[in-house]
Amino acid sequence: MNQRLHSLAATFIGLVLTTTSAPSQPANTIPHLRNQGAATQLIVDGKPFLALAAELNNSSASSLDYMKPLWPRLVATHINTVLATVSWELIEPREGRFDFALVDGLLKEARANHLHLVLLWFGSWKNGKSTYQPLWVKTDQMRFPLIQNEQGRSLPTLTPLSDSNRDADARAFAALMRHLHEADGSRHTVVMMQVENEVGVLDTPRDFSPAANEAFNGPAPKELMDYLQAHKDQLIPQLHEAWEKNGFKTSGTWEEIFGKSSVNTNDWKAFSYLTEEIFMAWNYARYVGRVAAAGKAEYNIPMYVNTWLKQSGFGWPGAYPGGGPQPQVMDIWRAGGAAIDILSPDIYAPNFTEWCDWYTQSGNPLFIPESRGDARGAADGLWAFGKHDAIGFSPFGIDRSAGPDTALARVYDVISQAAPLILEHQGKGTMTAILLDSATASQTVRLGNYNLEGRFSSRNFGGATNEPPDRVAALFISTGPDDYVIIGRSMNVYFTAATDPSDSVGLAAVEEGVYAGGKWIAGRRLNGDETPEWKALRFRGDNYSVQRVRLYRYH
Ligand code: DGJ
Repeated sequence: MNQRLHSLAATFIGLVLTTTSAPSQPANTIPHLRNQGAATQLIVDGKPFLALAAELNNSSASSLDYMKPLWPRLVATHINTVLATVSWELIEPREGRFDFALVDGLLKEARANHLHLVLLWFGSWKNGKSTYQPLWVKTDQMRFPLIQNEQGRSLPTLTPLSDSNRDADARAFAALMRHLHEADGSRHTVVMMQVENEVGVLDTPRDFSPAANEAFNGPAPKELMDYLQAHKDQLIPQLHEAWEKNGFKTSGTWEEIFGKSSVNTNDWKAFSYLTEEIFMAWNYARYVGRVAAAGKAEYNIPMYVNTWLKQSGFGWPGAYPGGGPQPQVMDIWRAGGAAIDILSPDIYAPNFTEWCDWYTQSGNPLFIPESRGDARGAADGLWAFGKHDAIGFSPFGIDRSAGPDTALARVYDVISQAAPLILEHQGKGTMTAILLDSATASQTVRLGNYNLEGRFSSRNFGGATNEPPDRVAALFISTGPDDYVIIGRSMNVYFTAATDPSDSVGLAAVEEGVYAGGKWIAGRRLNGDETPEWKALRFRGDNYSVQRVRLYRYH
């Protein structure tokens, strides 16, 4: 907190911050999801929790010694949740013999540093391939069969069409969750689980193993068709369209129901091989859903799956992991994997907002387990919290980039201060956000009684590098009919009346400040040159900061 700021709160009559939080539950309830208005919140120790997270590199959590110097750097980055790998090969090196020493070490260190964990179950699959299964699985391909391509060649990937693959994975995951129940059921260090990592088939549009061919040429499962019929009006448009094109058949082979695929590698948004993708999605969802359910039977905390997104230029499933929970097959995942709470995008692509829109379709809560952690990532994260009530945001590869003097640390510092207020406003229509970059240098949104316009201002950055950031965000909260709390950087924010456009809008009072323990501590009262044209808020400098404003109208 900036010690130079002193409280002017007493002189700021009427600008009272209400931080009444949602009804809380006993602190001993295990982590779970709960709805607040249109939002889904992660409840930890009985209270809503905002995961200001970051993901370690894949191998980091395999060594407690390697992790030792990292913990304080994570804390200095204002991270409150660390995403760390737990791999099948390390917890079950011999079949049925489990070793949780590493998991216990992570729990101990996280607790000592007042951090939460999301554990990533690297079981059957990691980025489409199978490299984290124990040697006794890898070397017994009769018992644990692999995916085959169209030429009948095995790929280094366990097939999801095998009960014995699934059951072995589910047994190990259940053992992990049983252990977490015992070791963490009353402490709640672990707040969520990721089941597998970026699943899907690479290098071939579908599995062509004998079991897969038989299933693909046989009838689509009744359970899936019942689900699609029951949810016909809420299906994701691409799936609805494919089904409609073939006459909404309710039984038949996959190709009879969804059509024979055609290849269109020129247009990445054309979903060629969609039928193969739907088929693989069903089989992955069934498998991962069963693994998740086995874990939940032991310890029922929220679970999500993450997605290697279909990128521009990767036209067909197989070029990206086909059958993962891409937007076009989200309904298939819902039908097949009921125990999975959240379908999550790993967003590195520049069109961050589009991916968030697609992953909030039909009520899917937004948790972003992988993203960028630079200035652009900082802006994206703030936007996701403000615009989509995100449960959490987590840049990948924090080992290299953790530290107090980073864009991520600066934005997480401010978000963590304002977290009680952000959580209070989730799902109520009283919070939103904008994202500005070179393509969109200004944006206007309506919130409450006013339109708020953010204009990127290159005069308003002023850091050591003097390089304007390529993307900045602002988060707006309406705290009363004429009152706003705004987090932003490098922009001016203008106001117009939304209810009666003939009214002119003036600034009744503006102050900067910080939150401490959920309470506003006012700093400077802003006026004159600090309020451009005497009608806008100016967010200056390299850091995100908070201002509160009360507006008035004149004719
Ligand atoms: C996505 C994967 O899910 C991560 O585990 C990691 O490999 C990153 N890609 C690397 O960029």
